[in-house]
Amino acid sequence: MARVISTGDDGGAEAAIAASIAVLGAGRPVAIPTETVYGLAADATNPAAITSIYETKGRPRFNPLICHMADLPMAERHAVFDPISRRLAEAFWPGPLTLVLPLKEDSGIHPLATAGLDTVGIRVPVGFTSALIRSFGRPLAAPSANSSGRVSPTTAQHVEADLGAKIEVIVDGGACPVGVESTIVKVEDGEARLLRPGGVAVEVIEAVIGRKVIRPKATGTAAIEAPGMLASHYAPNASVRLNAAAVAPGEALIAFGNGDIAGAADAKAVFNLSPRGDLAEAASNLFDFLKRADASGATGIAVAPIPDDGLGEAINDRLTRAAAPRGTEE
Ligand code: TXA
Ligand code: MG
Repeated sequence: MARVISTGDDGGAEAAIAASIAVLGAGRPVAIPTETVYGLAADATNPAAITSIYETKGRPRFNPLICHMADLPMAERHAVFDPISRRLAEAFWPGPLTLVLPLKEDSGIHPLATAGLDTVGIRVPVGFTSALIRSFGRPLAAPSANSSGRVSPTTAQHVEADLGAKIEVIVDGGACPVGVESTIVKVEDGEARLLRPGGVAVEVIEAVIGRKVIRPKATGTAAIEAPGMLASHYAPNASVRLNAAAVAPGEALIAFGNGDIAGAADAKAVFNLSPRGDLAEAASNLFDFLKRADASGATGIAVAPIPDDGLGEAINDRLTRAAAPRGTEE
């Protein structure tokens, strides 16, 4: 079983860094807290380490992984920044934004981490993980720390329940404050394109760069550019039904705001993402409530309508994937 080391304990952060570096240095993965979701991190320059991420997740094929850096200067050693990407990095790092950038030839990031592309997805996470990367001295490739196709973990306990038997160290940094994965943006020919909605709202990015971000044609389907964006992802066991106006017998309800949903009193369980209608609070609760609704024994999960602006775009993206037909999981 994995050793769980809490960064909140006396000397915990130092102990967690020392234990993580020992495992990472041996080419094996560790589970780490980030502000978005928990990541399963390994040395991005070591092919055996990257392979072990895929094996641990049971991910059947290689997708490019996000490479996490300690700070912007470290990112600049690995990728080429255009002016808009640099502006975004300065505005949002450390934070929940991933930039897809041309890879530098001498970067040292292994092609298994980028799936052989000539670009690399980079982000600088908040807090413990950037301190760990600074001590380790090399970028960490990290997808979410869950078995392939399942709901992403936002607590160390989620990671332990899913992968605890397969990994050596889980660093417990508490509940992830953002709760959905990073927003992914790629700048090409002076235009910023959204590859995945996430923890930074598109409107906020547009305000910083003073121009529109180009959205994929069909959000919520597989037909977009980030290769990991398969339709059925974040799949609970129970079926998920979106924009529910009423709860059917046997269903659990995931609510939002204080509106009435018919049949709520008879729901198997009720979880309100944010009674006061706050989308950031809703994002931070989303994956935990999906897991809890799933564990309630409900036959299905009815989800109330959620506004599509701000962080609602990322929330609705993840819910659409959770509700998609099965059999297309990555
Ligand atoms: O918040 C997050 O981003 C979390 C935490 C752990 O940092 N990580 C995460 O990683 O969500 P993952 O592996 O689940 O998602 C990576 C996404 C995939 O959709 C992948 O296709 C895309 O990033 N991606 C990575 N590199 C890319 C590249 N060079 N070009 C296009 N898409 C890329
Ligand atoms: Mg994931």
